[in-house]
Amino acid sequence: MYIRKLEKHEKVPMELLLLADPSKSFVEDYVAKGDCFIAESEEQIIGVYVLLPTRPKTVEIVNVAVAEEHQGKGIGKLLVSDAVRVAKTHGYKTIDIGTGNSSIGQLALYQKYGFRIVSVEYNYFVKHYSEEIYENGIQCTDMIRLSREL
Ligand SMILES: CC(C)(COP(=O)(O)OP(=O)(O)OC[C@H]1O[C@@H](n2cnc3c(N)ncnc32)[C@H](O)[C@@H]1OP(=O)(O)O)[C@@H](O)C(=O)NCCC(=O)NCCS
Repeated sequence: MYIRKLEKHEKVPMELLLLADPSKSFVEDYVAKGDCFIAESEEQIIGVYVLLPTRPKTVEIVNVAVAEEHQGKGIGKLLVSDAVRVAKTHGYKTIDIGTGNSSIGQLALYQKYGFRIVSVEYNYFVKHYSEEIYENGIQCTDMIRLSREL
């Protein structure tokens, strides 16, 4: 498996991106503005992340996803660490990521990689998503924003 930047003319792995973010219009918007990186194995895309510059010297991982059949094998960790490496290489000083209050595994993963919780956007998912989202038996209502210095 290796990770590479998706060229602008290549088709984005929309199904994978929708695993992390059910809003197709949000995904299309940030994919057009940011850079998409893919994990490939045997010519199949099994993982993806998207980096979007948001403020001076700051970039955000706006989407990270691993194909369901490949989850739990360390690929998500490789994607997050690659995003940190790419951000450092490009001279960014801060990398951000956001996730839902119900995303227990994701919150664990990001904190294991040095991301710290910096804020909570109360009712973010209630306001911006038309359908209710549930994970781990918890309604996803609030956006937990995490950040790591590079
Ligand atoms: C989130 C996602 C990208 C993680 O990728 P993955 O390949 O399954 O994850 P990995 O196998 O690399 O490992 C995840 C790490 O989080 C840890 N983790 C997961 N759930 C945990 C929990 N409940 N408590 C503690 N640690 C947990 C794992 O133990 C592992 O760390 P470890 O190896 O040190 O134990 C993947 O599950 C996915 O695509 N999910 C759907 C899309 C999504 O939710 N994207 C993120 C939106 S914010």
